[in-house]
Amino acid sequence: MTRRLDATPSGIAAAASILRAGGLVAFGTETVYGLGADASQPQAVARIFEAKNRPRFNPLISHFAHAQAAFTQVVPNAMAHRLAQAFWPGPLTLILPRAPACCISDLAADGLSSLAVRVPANATARALLEQVDRPIAAPSANRSGRISPVDAAHVLEELEGRIDAVLDSGPCMVGVESTVVDLTDPQAPCLLRPGGVTLEELQAICPHIRLPQTSSDVLPHSPGRLISHYAPHLPVRLNALHAQADEALLAFGAPRPTEAPLVWNLSENGNLEEAAARLFTGLRTLDHQGRALGLERIAVSPIPQHGLGRAIQDRLNRAAAPRPQDGVEDAAP
Ligand code: TXA
Ligand code: MG
Repeated sequence: MTRRLDATPSGIAAAASILRAGGLVAFGTETVYGLGADASQPQAVARIFEAKNRPRFNPLISHFAHAQAAFTQVVPNAMAHRLAQAFWPGPLTLILPRAPACCISDLAADGLSSLAVRVPANATARALLEQVDRPIAAPSANRSGRISPVDAAHVLEELEGRIDAVLDSGPCMVGVESTVVDLTDPQAPCLLRPGGVTLEELQAICPHIRLPQTSSDVLPHSPGRLISHYAPHLPVRLNALHAQADEALLAFGAPRPTEAPLVWNLSENGNLEEAAARLFTGLRTLDHQGRALGLERIAVSPIPQHGLGRAIQDRLNRAAAPRPQDGVEDAAP
């Protein structure tokens, strides 16, 4: 049985005690819902992989209520302090060397000498983290490879009965995962995953941030970044200027006449923040309703490549990528 907990003091207290006892609680952040477990308890972390049906272990992000708490587990450098000052609490994850006194289980860090840390902005998540007072490992609360959940109902669709509770703090405001920046080499900060903090915002603080040149540049460092991910059941066709009668359309911008019988517009007035917040719900809705209508695929309008458009395009590229069942193995080592 999965308990549904409200974002009230008693709901948050119940969620905190489940986590301290080694249980699994999905909770809302400003980006997506995370599937949380105490990062210092290996058995609790193992249950995350089991519940998500992950074929292999991936390094997980450890979540904290404050930067001071995060910086007890890693060795921060000057750039880490500046980025934390600018963007925490918020949708930014920093990869740093693990501190000698780090209590995170090897399973949560996948045995790496670095650790991903983040301080989320959502008030309920922060209250929860404060009460638990331990690092909480939390990947997105979906079955492995599927669309990330941005409300509690999405979490239950995939994980009902497999997790102890979901703490319902309503829909996620940002709607795409955090931006991941590797700071393990202070001379060469590197953007591993575009996300809720845009490249332009990062460059204002960290002008020399490097974009990975190729996907093989990212994968050894960020083994969780499987190419196929965020996948609906229907195939996805990108940069579609016109959708066909057998397609559901994920549109962006001013509505135009289309043959597609089913349309989800990410943002009619071309606002990328609104589009990010509506992305995963749109994919999910078109997938469910499109399959019910017997449609063949999801066509996606072109997305501008600036600001949050990069994070949106990254998720769409992965949703459209060949899937392991198509005969292509994970690109990760
Ligand atoms: O917004 C988010 O970041 C959400 C919410 C729940 O906080 N979490 C999330 O976690 O997206 P997950 O596990 O789906 O993605 C974590 C990403 C993966 O791409 C993983 O490879 C990378 O962070 N990562 C984690 N630890 C790493 C490390 N030590 N070095 C490099 N990449 C790492
Ligand atoms: Mg994920």
